[in-house]
Amino acid sequence: MMDIVEARAFARSKCDKDTTYRHLVSVEGVMRALSRRFEEDEETWALAGLFHDLDQDITDSDPDRHATLAAEWLRAEGVKEVVVNAVLAHNFPEYRTDRMARAIVPADAVAGLLVAAALVRPEKSVGMKVSSVRKKLKEKAFAPGVNRDEINEVEDSIGISVEDLIALGIEGLQQVASEIDL
Ligand SMILES: [Fe+2]
Repeated sequence: MMDIVEARAFARSKCDKDTTYRHLVSVEGVMRALSRRFEEDEETWALAGLFHDLDQDITDSDPDRHATLAAEWLRAEGVKEVVVNAVLAHNFPEYRTDRMARAIVPADAVAGLLVAAALVRPEKSVGMKVSSVRKKLKEKAFAPGVNRDEINEVEDSIGISVEDLIALGIEGLQQVASEIDL
């Protein structure tokens, strides 16, 4: 099993773009905070977040291979199947069979919103407030690529409120911020 230092080095080696690596680590952070909320294994959830878009820069133009290629790489590295399943889950709903695999979807979306919000603040993620992120969630023109439905459906998917998702997301992003200059 890879530790997080090895896992991040592996993730970085698969990313052509710095923005992709930043996205991966931001989702790692959000998944860490969610794992603690549910008293689940933090290192396992961290890996699921970190690896979820591992093949992004290669499968960009080929969305059907997205996550499938990452799953091949991860199995070749001996990464455990529960993590591979969660990676597949973010692109293919049929893999959303456990809480970690369902959590990937809102974690992915809220991390996108939080990173965009941090980038327009001089203090980046430091001192970020739930209320200001909520406003940005409602502002459709802000970070338009972020899927709002995936955030708003968090209560149905993993049983926490949007408010809690944002609060945990901020905490998680702050935890990994030094790795991605946020
Ligand atoms: Fe993603």
